[in-house]
Amino acid sequence: MSKLTEEIQSRKTFAIISHPDAGKTTLTEKLLYFGGAIHEAGTVKGKKNTKHATSDWMEIEKQRGISVTSSVMEFHYKDHQINILDTPGHEDFSEDTYRTLTAADSATMLIDAAKGVEAQTKKLFKVCSMRGIPIFTFINKLDRQGRDPFELMEEMENLLGIRSYPMNWPIGMGMDFYGIYDRHSKKIELYDADNPSNVEIKQTTGPDDPALDDWIEPTLLAQFREEIELLDVAGDAYDEAKIKNGELTPVFFGSAISNFGVQNFLEHFLHLAPAPVGRKSDKGFIEPAQPGFSGFVFKIQANMNPKHRDRIAFLRITSGKYTQGMHVSHVRQNKTMRLAQPTQFLAQDRNIVTEAYAGDIIGLYDPGTFRIGDTLAEDDHFQFDEMPHFSPEHFAAISVKDAMKHKSFEKGLQQLTEEGAVQLFHTYNKYPEQQIIGVVGVLQFEVMEYRLKNEYNADIRLENLPFSIARWVNGESDAMETFKKRQRNLTLDRDNRIVALFENEFQMNMTKDKYPQLMFYENSYMK
Ligand code: G4P
Repeated sequence: MSKLTEEIQSRKTFAIISHPDAGKTTLTEKLLYFGGAIHEAGTVKGKKNTKHATSDWMEIEKQRGISVTSSVMEFHYKDHQINILDTPGHEDFSEDTYRTLTAADSATMLIDAAKGVEAQTKKLFKVCSMRGIPIFTFINKLDRQGRDPFELMEEMENLLGIRSYPMNWPIGMGMDFYGIYDRHSKKIELYDADNPSNVEIKQTTGPDDPALDDWIEPTLLAQFREEIELLDVAGDAYDEAKIKNGELTPVFFGSAISNFGVQNFLEHFLHLAPAPVGRKSDKGFIEPAQPGFSGFVFKIQANMNPKHRDRIAFLRITSGKYTQGMHVSHVRQNKTMRLAQPTQFLAQDRNIVTEAYAGDIIGLYDPGTFRIGDTLAEDDHFQFDEMPHFSPEHFAAISVKDAMKHKSFEKGLQQLTEEGAVQLFHTYNKYPEQQIIGVVGVLQFEVMEYRLKNEYNADIRLENLPFSIARWVNGESDAMETFKKRQRNLTLDRDNRIVALFENEFQMNMTKDKYPQLMFYENSYMK
């Protein structure tokens, strides 16, 4: 195997998707801790403190004690380089969160055992399943009483449409949590509530091993044996092909806070999760191990230093190897540029990176050169597929208070839409034309208002609009013409595609029924 292939094969790039409070920060910390990237769990981000890790750069973050934009963390574990893409979750949920998932090759869905599949998990899951990437599930907080594991699996199937295969199975829960049983290795990991980090691992011959009688309370043991039998007989079969294309999710149980079940998850994850996967381009599929360097920008983070308008463009390397100072072409602008001093993200520090491989994420200093979805390529001129926009959930008409500031307002608006945190629409066939901003999380309105004022000296007026759904529409041309004439609340997106806005599902479904020849897409990919 060539050095390039070897390096690429050792990498795993994934995102953790979850609803706030499921334990994502806690799980991330434990994973980094295993990799030795941090020495003490609890240092990833001081969510409730004033001290922040990577992104202590914006007043609004400080005031609210949250991180507005997501970042990347990498660590090493047993000859692997693992890149975790952080997907922000609380009030800072935004389109960025969705887009970050396009840079991941697999996802880990984290579920709180007491709460099951929650709203945000569902949204993020949808984006992952649109791409058909493998999805791993970690059911967390087993140290507390949660819901029945079978019920949780059923819920995943009903709400997400994914079948599951438990890789391990819990014995009891909450006060009666005895541990987990690994169905492949037949090892039991015993949980000690008084000292959870002291994990005792015992090899068994299977669930019927008489040794289990010495360790586990009889009623729970009987129940455990019954459950495993049920899984073996009636559960889905283990199928790596289905795992690879996201039809079957391997499920793990544990307690992130007690660091219990995390290593079991990590070991299986490393075995099953894909190494970096290539991406489609306008000149065919780009394989990660092809020698020429290439990558795409999936996220732009503004103003690491609020005094300047610098931005960091996050680039997912798709193929080949990056070396410091290399020359690449910026395909959209058709010009050559030197990649000077990109940064890489090791737990909480940003380091200058000297080399990086397909699968890695590097941060490029961006004086305003990049747009979300831009392709950089070393030898060939190809472009990766367009980066999709997703339906915003909140809309507001935007205008500048002082007409004299019009120019800088427009410039700011353009910059912010290029960064991708907000989407800009223009009303269609309406006079006077209105500019409408759409966001996935309401906090983005505040961020936008703050930034336009502070960076572009433009006070804005925002008028909330009653819409909650956007759909990209196309289809048979006559029907489209009628639709464009008759339908209310139509807009054009940045690329002049027709986007219809609706207040609710009911309204949208009525319209869909009225125009059966048209297709209504949830994202700008229109597929
Ligand atoms: P998030 O990033 O997904 O939002 O979740 P985070 O890790 O911050 O965890 C949310 C809460 O759940 C935290 O409690 C955390 O301690 C708790 N938690 C995480 N994993 C487990 C687990 O395995 N078992 C139990 N019982 N709790 C868990 P908090 O009280 O909100 O915050 P803190 O004061 O503990 O930091």
